[in-house]
Amino acid sequence: MSDMPCDFDSTMKRLEACGQAQVLSGWSSLDSSRRASLLNQINTLPLESIPELVAQCVLSHDHGGGSKDLSPPEVTAPGPDEAAELAKRGEEIIRDGRVAAFTVAGGQGTRLGWGGPKGTYPATPVSGKPLFRVFAEQIQAASDHWNTRICWYIMTSEANDSATRDFFADNNWFGLPRTQVMLFPQGMMPCFDAESGHLLMEAPDRLAMSPDGHGGSIAALHRSGALEQMSVLGIDTISYFQVDNPIAPVIDPVFIGLHADPARSSGEMSSKMVPKISSGEKVGVFCKVGDCTEVIEYSDMPEDLQEKRDQQGRLVYDAGNIALHLLGVEFAQRLCNSNELPWHRAVKNIPWFDQASGTHMTPKSPNGVKLERFIFDALSLATRPAVLEVERSREFAPIKNAVGNDSPESCRQAQSNLYGQWLESHGVNIARNDSGDVLADIEISPLTAMDASQLDSTDLPKAIGPADRILF
Ligand code: UTP
Repeated sequence: MSDMPCDFDSTMKRLEACGQAQVLSGWSSLDSSRRASLLNQINTLPLESIPELVAQCVLSHDHGGGSKDLSPPEVTAPGPDEAAELAKRGEEIIRDGRVAAFTVAGGQGTRLGWGGPKGTYPATPVSGKPLFRVFAEQIQAASDHWNTRICWYIMTSEANDSATRDFFADNNWFGLPRTQVMLFPQGMMPCFDAESGHLLMEAPDRLAMSPDGHGGSIAALHRSGALEQMSVLGIDTISYFQVDNPIAPVIDPVFIGLHADPARSSGEMSSKMVPKISSGEKVGVFCKVGDCTEVIEYSDMPEDLQEKRDQQGRLVYDAGNIALHLLGVEFAQRLCNSNELPWHRAVKNIPWFDQASGTHMTPKSPNGVKLERFIFDALSLATRPAVLEVERSREFAPIKNAVGNDSPESCRQAQSNLYGQWLESHGVNIARNDSGDVLADIEISPLTAMDASQLDSTDLPKAIGPADRILF
């Protein structure tokens, strides 16, 4: 929030200085309360930085991906002994209460088309447990297992904050200590006209705004007081995951151990990767750009590099980003102070209010620019980030689309496959189809087992048939 005085003259001066005086062109038609609310909204914006933002991010079309000096990243793919060693280090850190869980849940979930916040979506194959409950159970199970306190931070958005809070309250905070769960909204950015770079109005007395992306989580952690609270509580590691991936291991000792190993990481930021399924899979990939590790988005990666293979025929750039990261609390604080995360432009159809004609416009083609920050851009600002290879089937089954890939159906199948595999490792016979998918619906609550090793063999059936629906 700006400290600037909230009156017409001073606001107009600031707007003129940044080339956005048109925002107040409908002033004479507004009553006093609408005038106040418009001035108030304008003065929450960092107006002085707008000219540079417009020049560099709104009107510039440069993607930059092609000209970079790219090479594949260094990836850690530990064998069983090394993983056990890393896990030992990670478990000490977890037991000491130094790790917090952090869910980003501010997205609009447009592709899924669910009426409420995405975290309320029923995601599991048998009980239809909502995503938020799945994570709550993981946090409860990890707290019990390592006999520690795990705080849970959840970033919402202006649009879904109150519905998310109501859901947690209605569910009695999923049995977690109320003081260990903190919700806070992410920031908003103004929308711009794609041709002129002018701020778009949503109504005569309101600018059009949109959420500032998952990278906005760094500033939101700071603004909400979460980072400060973490420091006070002795938390130095943030386990970042997205709300749409129910099999994301929220607290992973191997990953935490790697992140904390001074020989391999500065402890600032670490990320997980899975090998891409095919060259055309639409995920960002980890790359080395000069000396920095970065994620390059699918759309920014030149096609020849997407297809490039080594002598064994493997894709050279196959390190897919699955949005599981660890961030040091001090690093997050530094990122916030330096405000260095770049903005990315997305050109969209943005409904707007035309002050000249006094009409609400609904564009049929892209007319405006939304600006977002991406969390993975923090990687290039970290010293010696570590990238850990993990198994897709164990860690990544996001719900993005209503049908097809990355849909509720594919996610439920991935869960049944995963839990079927855990049971098979204990000798249970599981019916599968020709493609190897488990035929039954199987669900294992994190409160029963966080991985296959925690299942108690004596309690398990000998076989699970194709039509069974099994909940452990
Ligand atoms: P997605 O990129 O999948 O976007 O977000 P989305 O908004 O959820 O879905 P679509 O694109 O509208 O269909 C990945 C993760 O980042 C969070 C989302 O909640 C999800 O966990 N996110 C995204 C935010 O928290 N804030 C944002 O501004 C954007």
